[in-house]
This record gives sequence, C-alpha cells and structure tokens, in this order.
Amino acid sequence: MKSALVLGAGKGIGLALTKNILLKDEFKTVIASHRDSSELVKLSEKFSEKIKLVKITASDEKSFNTLDLELSKLNSLDLCINSIGTLHDDNTRPERQISEVTSDSISWAIKVNTTPTLLVAKKIKELFKKSNNPIFASISAKVGSISDNATGGWYSYRISKAALNMAIKNLSIEFKRVNKNGLVVALHPGTTITDLSKPFLKGASKKYTLHSSDDTAANLMTVLFNLDPVKDSGHLISWNGNKIDP
Ligand SMILES: NC(=O)c1ccc[n+]([C@@H]2O[C@H](COP(=O)([O-])OP(=O)(O)OC[C@H]3O[C@@H](n4cnc5c(N)ncnc54)[C@H](OP(=O)(O)O)[C@@H]3O)[C@@H](O)[C@H]2O)c1
Repeated sequence: MKSALVLGAGKGIGLALTKNILLKDEFKTVIASHRDSSELVKLSEKFSEKIKLVKITASDEKSFNTLDLELSKLNSLDLCINSIGTLHDDNTRPERQISEVTSDSISWAIKVNTTPTLLVAKKIKELFKKSNNPIFASISAKVGSISDNATGGWYSYRISKAALNMAIKNLSIEFKRVNKNGLVVALHPGTTITDLSKPFLKGASKKYTLHSSDDTAANLMTVLFNLDPVKDSGHLISWNGNKIDP
C-alpha cells in the first residue's frame, strides 16, 4: 500500500490531484496541505480513513514542521506533489515591463513558487530513500523555460519558475544518490481553468487547449506513472508527456 503527500491541496490543480489520489485503492494514506480550505475539509470528511490534513503557508518555514508528525507515521513515501503557486493577488498583477518590477514582487514569487519545493524536499528525503519507486514532482510552468520565452513580461513568475526548475534539477541529482529508482520532475500542467489562470484566459481557447482541474490531475498522474527515472529525472515535463527545453 502506498502513501502520498500533496502540498497546495486546498483548491485548483492540487485539490484535483488529491481527489484523484484518494480514489486510487493502492494509496492508503494521503497527507494534504492547505491554508484554510473548506473544500478540502469537506473532502477529508468523505475520506477520513485515508487523509490527514496539515496547514502550510509558503512564507512560514516553521509551518512545514506540521508535516513531521504525519511523516513520522510512514515507513516510506511513494508520491509527493507540490502544487503551491502564485501569479497574482489582490494587489499584484504579473509585470508587463521592467518598470513594474519591485524587489518585493521578485522575493514574494520566489517565496511561494520556488522555496516550498526545497523545504518539503528536506522533510521527505529519508522517506523517499525507503520507497521502491518514489516520485517527487513540483508543478512548474512552461513560462519558466528560458528557451521558450518569446514574449517577455511576467518577470517574477517566470524567474521563480525557472529557479524552481533548477531546484528540481539539483534535487534529482541529490535524491538519485539515495534512491536510484526515484523520479524527481517539474511538471507543466497545461492551461487549466483555476483562480490563478482565470484573469488571463480571455481568448486563450483560440491559442491553447483549456483543461479543467480534474482533467489536468488525470493527465499529470498518467504522465508521472509513465516516466523513466533515469531518462526523465531533473526535467520539466509537459502534461502530454513531452520534455520542455530549459
Ligand atoms: N492554472 C494554470 O493554467 C497553470 C499553468 C501553469 C502552471 N500552473 C501552476 O500550477 C500550480 C497550481 O496552480 P493552480 O492553477 O491550481 O492555481 P490555484 O487554484 O490558485 O491554486 C494555487 C494553490 O497554491 C496555494 N498557495 C498560494 N499561495 C500560497 C501560500 N503563500 N502559502 C501556501 N499555499 C499557497 C493555494 O492555497 P490557498 O487555497 O490557501 O490560496 C492553492 O492551493 C501553481 O504552481 C501554478 O503556477 C498553473
């Protein structure tokens, strides 16, 4: 029987991934992190045998210690997916030009989009070592690819996702040393209708396939379980299984 951990499980892609994993019989334990999600709490009431909720806020390193108790009950961890991410909030929109960039906007994006992957990696390394075929994935974005950048803008988001892709590359090297069967990847989920993307979707259906969170979760799970730890670890992989150049 397998165990999983999902960060950012309160809504959007993270919530859909959590539902998808809970419905798989082979997963006996699912730890899910949120900040204050009534939807996740409702889901947890339905799957109370399997799911454990913890509260994690990206900017609060100590909040990652809420994982310690639940992780200490496991013999190994088979799947860990970080879906925490931000693109905008009430006061901030992605920058269109350099004049809109501030030190705070860059540090905030790094804090939410890059750092949680590193902080959770510290917590799971020992359990990753003990699983037969562990998977550690973080939801990144194609816009974090330097070679794919044709339009510029979105400085903080692009920079924080490019940094996340480097964090994943580093972790893939370090985690390979403790478990040669382990897979460590960054994932591009495809354009998915969520609170994060909604303000930017006008006209998007003419350019991209638009996915529901449930479809994206199903796509990502299929991709993850068909990747090759040797060939694919350290890479940014798209929802359709294609590798995206860094
Ligand atoms: N949607 C897309 O088209 C798309 C495309 C490419 C990449 N992505 C990536 O996919 C991931 C998931 O995004 P989504 O589309 O599902 O958006 P979403 O619905 O807005 O979900 C974002 C998740 O991140 C959590 N989060 C945000 N700031 C946080 C913080 N400071 N501390 C802790 N948790 C925080 C949110 O928790 P709360 O519920 O507490 O806010 C939520 O669970 C992100 O990394 C995003 O960059 C999405």
